[in-house]
Amino acid sequence: MSEASVTAIVLAGGSGSRMGLSTPKQALDLLGEPVLAYSLRLFASFDFVEHIVVVLGDPSAYPDLSGYCQGTSLAIAKGGPTRQASVAEGLVCLAEGTGAVMVHDSARPLVSAGLVERLYGALDDHVDGVVPVLAEGDALKEVSSGMVLASRSKSGLFRVQTPQLFDKEPLQDALARSMAEGHGAEDCSEMLLSSGYRVRAVEGDRLNVKITFPEDLIICEQILRSRDAR
Ligand code: CTP
Ligand code: MG
Repeated sequence: MSEASVTAIVLAGGSGSRMGLSTPKQALDLLGEPVLAYSLRLFASFDFVEHIVVVLGDPSAYPDLSGYCQGTSLAIAKGGPTRQASVAEGLVCLAEGTGAVMVHDSARPLVSAGLVERLYGALDDHVDGVVPVLAEGDALKEVSSGMVLASRSKSGLFRVQTPQLFDKEPLQDALARSMAEGHGAEDCSEMLLSSGYRVRAVEGDRLNVKITFPEDLIICEQILRSRDAR
């Protein structure tokens, strides 16, 4: 069980091109608040999260975000051209004394306290990082030019979510190596694996939806409404 103090890096440096809107998705309104606000407020509610770094494409386009962080110290970094580069910019702003780094996509506003606790509880001396995964439910097909070419087994395949929690040095080392070698990575665990680090998988959360396409925002609204109705 970790006792490390955590810096949370909240990534909001993307343009949200698959949403097809001029406003990036992290700034869109979700039941009266920007998408980005939800994860900031949740991370700030944990005592072990001592510092939050928000990585923004254009910091001048955002109002003051400290109101969402309930007194937890906040730094703003300017994002890079890729997610990986934005993580690197966030890592420049770690708090002194940080033992572990929680990297989160602001495009997942419904991240829950239970998931954050599960990750923190699973970061022990046997591993360098912990990520949430979900078993794939649908049958998988390889499709090209509108034709189904082959079936792929879903056995052993999982979807990975954020937040992802890593010990500080392995994350810094893995990121520096993959950038030096020019390896892109869709998530941080990919970089740790290529550098030979150990990453544990814990159960993710099916309600921790990532906003990628316009329909995902509607799904998030409905999940929040059903929570409020309970
Ligand atoms: N991200 C980032 N910097 C980048 C690219 C992405 O900080 N240069 C962040 C996004 O803001 C998002 C997360 O990484 O919170 C996951 O990326 P994704 O869902 O791909 O978001 P976008 O890149 O913004 O969307 P798209 O790929 O559709 O353009
Ligand atoms: Mg992207």
